[in-house]
Amino acid sequence: MRRIASKLPDVGTTIFTVMSRLAAESRALNLSQGFPDFQPPPELIERVSFHLRGGHNQYPPMAGVESLRTAIAATVERLYGVAVDAEHEVTVTSGATEALFCAIQAVVGRGDEAIVFDPAYDSYDPGVRLAGGRCIHIPLHPPEFAIDWQQLAAQLSARTRLVIINSPTNPTGRLLERDDLDRLAELVRPYDCYVLSDEVYEHIVFDGRAHATVLAHEELAARSFAVFSFGKTYHATGWKIGYCVAPRELSAEFRRIHQFVTFASTAPLQHALADCMLQYPEHLSTLAAFYQRKRDLFGELMKTSRFRLLPSQGTYFQLADYGAISAAEDHEFAHWLTVEHKVAVIPVSAFYREPPPMTLVRFCFAKEAETLGEAARRVSSL
Ligand SMILES: Cc1ncc(COP(=O)(O)O)c(C=O)c1O
Repeated sequence: MRRIASKLPDVGTTIFTVMSRLAAESRALNLSQGFPDFQPPPELIERVSFHLRGGHNQYPPMAGVESLRTAIAATVERLYGVAVDAEHEVTVTSGATEALFCAIQAVVGRGDEAIVFDPAYDSYDPGVRLAGGRCIHIPLHPPEFAIDWQQLAAQLSARTRLVIINSPTNPTGRLLERDDLDRLAELVRPYDCYVLSDEVYEHIVFDGRAHATVLAHEELAARSFAVFSFGKTYHATGWKIGYCVAPRELSAEFRRIHQFVTFASTAPLQHALADCMLQYPEHLSTLAAFYQRKRDLFGELMKTSRFRLLPSQGTYFQLADYGAISAAEDHEFAHWLTVEHKVAVIPVSAFYREPPPMTLVRFCFAKEAETLGEAARRVSSL
């Protein structure tokens, strides 16, 4: 047999899996991978059980069950004041990950370029390469992680087919504001390029700020795929249900890909999510306060440690500078913290192609108060 010529020869196991595995082996508290250690709302679980028993166990429609697409469109209109067509502009996917992949495959071809801002979620670059394109990585620097618009302007060209943005941003907890979207719109205007906007943490925005979605930016919305995740919103990351909202023509191309990737996503979960979106809309509006309390609690608890916390404006992640504790590079530090002090974190350099010098790790605070308290206690003596 001929050896397989890998399409992703330099890609190993994702850092999230590596750190979660190390956490389990070391019996450490796992504040590395981004998932809650608490359960989805009981009414949602009840609706899943209802639909499983009620017979929603065969293939749902390829684009998603109608009630869920309608509920998504109604929610987009209620929250952002934008009318989207549930029939032609909303597609339910197996997690945001599948939506990101399909959107990339829909527009990036051989020799095309996609621009990403590092630190970036780890699925963007492989998705672009599998489509035959290449990513241009623009590094953002701590502590602000602000986009250098001149650098973006310099990288945009006739080869650019896609610009990928993510706000609220994993891992930095930073937000793009409306002004940022204006700058982006202005810069991409002359080019035949699309925008992929990863908005999986749309509801987790703190201190009274509002989430700036591309859907509410008329000019950007016309060339954007906006991607969302029920896993993040309903404390159910293991369900892998997400969706993509894009103009009709883009959605049609997106669906061409989606139908041959997963065809459709788990039926009873879709029906249950539709019920909950309609019957308990307050879940969405209380999510920001829910996670803000956790952010504040974790911040308070960590004051006894020598970690210096960076501002977190959204997401359920907290960056922390360990420079006062150690000069080790961040993978080594994260390994040491997990194995020796039983708290697992993610090294931030893992989100960069070429990391700038820094001593930062990412904590996930989507955890019960006891877990956060115990984690802070364990690191406070360092
Ligand atoms: C920025 C970002 N995008 C996408 C995803 C993937 O979402 P899903 O679990 O719905 O596939 C994650 C999950 O951590 C994420 O942080």
